[in-house]
Amino acid sequence: MYSKEVKEYFENPINMGIIEDANGIGQIKNEICSDIIKIYLKVNEKNIIEDAKFEAKGCPPVIAACCAITNMIKNMNIDESKNITAKEIIEKLNGLPKEKVHCAELVIKTFKKAIKSITK
Ligand code: FES
Repeated sequence: MYSKEVKEYFENPINMGIIEDANGIGQIKNEICSDIIKIYLKVNEKNIIEDAKFEAKGCPPVIAACCAITNMIKNMNIDESKNITAKEIIEKLNGLPKEKVHCAELVIKTFKKAIKSITK
C-alpha cells in the first residue's frame, strides 16, 4: 500500500525532535483523525532555514511527509521554500494512496504556519 520511501521514513524517521531555539513553530491538529504535527524552524538573518525538525503523532504518511519536507527545506531561502507543494512532497515519497493525500497537505499547512510565525 505504501511506497518503499514512506516505509523507510516511517521506520527510521529523520529530523524528528525539537529545536530548542527555534524561531518559527507551526502546529496543527487534524480534528478528524486526531493527528498532531509540529514543525520547528531555525532561520538565520539571511532568511535561510538552517535547521528544521518535527514532532508528530500520526499516520505513516504524516511522518514520512514531515521527514521529506524538513529535509528539502534545510539551507533553503524562506521565499523559495514557500513554494513547495504537497504534490512535490508526494513525489519525493514516490506517491501516496489517494485517500492519504490530505496527510501531505496537512504537513504543508503546518509548515506554512511555522513560516508565518518566524521572528528574528
Ligand atoms: Fe490523518 Fe494522515 S490519516 S493526517
